[in-house]
Amino acid sequence: MKICMIGTGYVGLVSGTCFAELGNQVICADINKIKINQLNECNIPIYEPGLEELVKRNFKQGRLKFSSNISTSIKHSDIIFICVGTPTNKKTNDANLKHVFNVTNIIKNNLNKYKVIVTKSTVPVTTGDKIEKILNIKKNKNKFDVISNPEFLREGEAIRDFMFPDRVVVGTSTKKSNNIMKNLYLPIIKKKNRYFHTSRRAAELIKYASNAFLATKITYINEVANLCEKSNIDVKDIAIGMGLDERIGDRFLRAGPGYGGSCFPKDTRALVSTANKFKTDLSIIKTVIKSNDARNKKLILRINKIMSNNLENKKITFLGVTFKAGTDDMRESPALNIIPSLIRRGSIINYYDPSGSKDIFKSKKIKYCKNIKDACINSDLLIIHTEWNEFKQLNFKKLVQKKSFKVFDMRNLYTPDKMKKSNIKYFGIGR
Ligand code: UGA
Repeated sequence: MKICMIGTGYVGLVSGTCFAELGNQVICADINKIKINQLNECNIPIYEPGLEELVKRNFKQGRLKFSSNISTSIKHSDIIFICVGTPTNKKTNDANLKHVFNVTNIIKNNLNKYKVIVTKSTVPVTTGDKIEKILNIKKNKNKFDVISNPEFLREGEAIRDFMFPDRVVVGTSTKKSNNIMKNLYLPIIKKKNRYFHTSRRAAELIKYASNAFLATKITYINEVANLCEKSNIDVKDIAIGMGLDERIGDRFLRAGPGYGGSCFPKDTRALVSTANKFKTDLSIIKTVIKSNDARNKKLILRINKIMSNNLENKKITFLGVTFKAGTDDMRESPALNIIPSLIRRGSIINYYDPSGSKDIFKSKKIKYCKNIKDACINSDLLIIHTEWNEFKQLNFKKLVQKKSFKVFDMRNLYTPDKMKKSNIKYFGIGR
């Protein structure tokens, strides 16, 4: 099939490349010419394991193309995926749909034959209706269907999530567009995965309701972790014990520094905002947002307590600063609040992250180190902030080379008993 992905961000680039890998002709289009030039040289602007190899192979074989000419790309294709960003509108907490509607207007002027217009961007309920209204001018009659096909890819696992999906959700009311989408996904839904056909509005809401539910699960275990800390129980045991009940499941029950990233914070806020418009009170999600926002403050107080209320001139090492492992993404990472707050309290910060240094931390008091060893030496406190694999088997004493130091493991990668036996002052989350 001939496919056009508009927007070469995370969603568009990963999905477009995977569609090409499945044998389709794909054009990834973007107004950002610099990005398109880079992609035409197979320089990948994001960090995603396995993506570069896949882009190179499909580009070489001519199935994957990059273009900054959006109109031509649309004309050449049968299925158009809208994959542009929908960031939070800071004033209203709504999803900002400016880019989605800009793209819709370009599509409106380039419908040279029947095309399926798909929203893959995360968009609030009724966005599909609005897109349809914009496209529905006289000359476009019977030339399009607008459908919703939300993506459920996790950063760092995106290619596997695409190729082996738990589900493919397609929201449309026409048989024709549903058949086209079913055909497109056939190579991966054959692998016994589920293709779920529903209404367009339902598909739009499934995405938000899923992300908000996962954010709730994480926040729930984080609050249980607070109780565990006070009652001398290990939250990991609670998560295992709960997860054995198949109705609950063991995934997304890892207590930690709170959820971050480009999706959960943005989508929980946008869902509440949509509900407000429909005069519905999503009190649970509102509480989740509040609890997660408060978590950074709680962690700063905990660090202060671990350091006996003395952070002045203390050398603190961050192992990992991204919001999770397997990505270079800093968006809404807990470190963005915790590090500046420690600086204000007089601490000196070293950090190491496998995905490299971060512009956002350009300050005299924050130093990026090229390896774990340089980051840890002489530190008063090591904070394991992100669960990168290379932090899972460290010899802390050898790394710090100092008699007295502490470890705060925000991802519970280590066992408290083992740490105690090694005489290391160790602190975890919910234990
Ligand atoms: C999330 C969803 O998992 C995807 O299904 C969805 O497609 C994507 O958002 C999106 O809307 O585009 P992602 O943001 O890549 O994916 O990251 P997750 O792996 O879901 O983690 C989100 C946050 O929750 C991270 O800060 C992570 O550290 C935290 N988390 C996750 C926990 O604290 N505990 C857990 O048990 C799991």
